[in-house]
Amino acid sequence: MTAIPPEPIRGQFKGKDIISLGQFDTDCIAKLFRITAQMREVALSAAPSHVLDGSIVVLLFYEPSSRTMGSFDAATKQLGGQTVVVTSPQQYSSVAKGESFADTIRTFEAYSDAIVLRHYETGSAATAAETARHVPILNAGDGIGEHPTQALLDLYTIWEHTGRLAGLRGLVAGDILNGRTVHSLIKGLALYEENELYLLAPPELRLARDDLAAFQQSGIRLYEVDDVGDIPRDCHFWYWTRVQKERFRSDEEFQRVNNRFIVTKQLLETYGNRDMILMHPLPRVGEIEDAVDDDLRAVYLRSQIRNGMYVRMALLALVLGRIA
Ligand code: NCD
Repeated sequence: MTAIPPEPIRGQFKGKDIISLGQFDTDCIAKLFRITAQMREVALSAAPSHVLDGSIVVLLFYEPSSRTMGSFDAATKQLGGQTVVVTSPQQYSSVAKGESFADTIRTFEAYSDAIVLRHYETGSAATAAETARHVPILNAGDGIGEHPTQALLDLYTIWEHTGRLAGLRGLVAGDILNGRTVHSLIKGLALYEENELYLLAPPELRLARDDLAAFQQSGIRLYEVDDVGDIPRDCHFWYWTRVQKERFRSDEEFQRVNNRFIVTKQLLETYGNRDMILMHPLPRVGEIEDAVDDDLRAVYLRSQIRNGMYVRMALLALVLGRIA
C-alpha cells in the first residue's frame, strides 16, 4: 500500500487524520496535553459529558487489541459519543466475501464521524485516509509502521513523571525492528532538544538501517546496544516491548530472538535508579517479571494504561472539532 504523506497538524486538529507522529510539532503536543489533563478530570467526575454528543466513532480492528480498542471505546462513551465496533472484519464483515479495503472504508465512512483503524499492513492508515474524504482516520497501528496514539500516551506518561520532554535519556528494549509503538515514540522524542535513546535489541531486531539514518538525521541521538551491561544507570525511563510474534515467518525464527532481555527485580536493582519509570505498551508476554509490578516505578499497569483513555478523549474531541 502506498499513500501520500499525511498533512501536518500545525495547531489545527479539526478534520485531520492522525496517521503518524511526524504530523505533530511541540506546540500541538502541548495543546493536546493541556486538554488531556482536563479530560482526566472529566473521566474522574461523576457528571456526564456532552462533548461528543451525537457523534459515532467506528472502531475497525483487523488485528487483536485490548487497550487501544478498549480505551478508544471508553473515551468516546466518556464524552457522550457512541461507537460501532468492528473486530476482525476479515472474518465477520463483507471482507470475508472478498470486499476490498477501499469499499470497506467507504462503507464505514458513511455511518460515522471518525474511523479508528488497526490493520496488519504498513501504510494502511494513510491509504484509508486517502479513501475517506469526509471523516478523519485515526491510526491505531498499521503493521510494523506506526502507532501514534500509543506514542502520545507514552509521551504524556513521561511528561507527567519527569515534567519535561527534552533532555531525556531513555532505554528502549525488545523488538525495535517491528515495534510500531517504538517507531512513533522515537519520532515524538525527536521533536524535542537533547534527547537520547539506548536501543537494546538482539542484532536481528534492530531498527531498519534506513529508519535509523532518518531518525538520526532528525536530531535524536540513538545508541544501539545488545547487552544489558550497556544500560546507562541514569535513564529517566525504560520502555520495554514485546517481540512481535505475528511479524515472523516461522515460530522457529521467533523463538530464536524472543525474550533475550527480561526485566527482573535484580536487573532493575542493578541498572536502574530511584527516579526512573518503567514503561511497556503492553501486552507483555514474559519480558517483565510479575514480581516487578509492585515496584512504584512500574507504571505500565498504572498511569500508562489510564493515560491512554485521557489522551484519546482529547484527540477525539479535537479532531471532531468539539474543542478548538
Ligand atoms: C502494541 C501494538 O499493538 O502495537 N499494543 C498496544 O496497542 N498497546 C504493542 C504490542 O502489541 O506489542
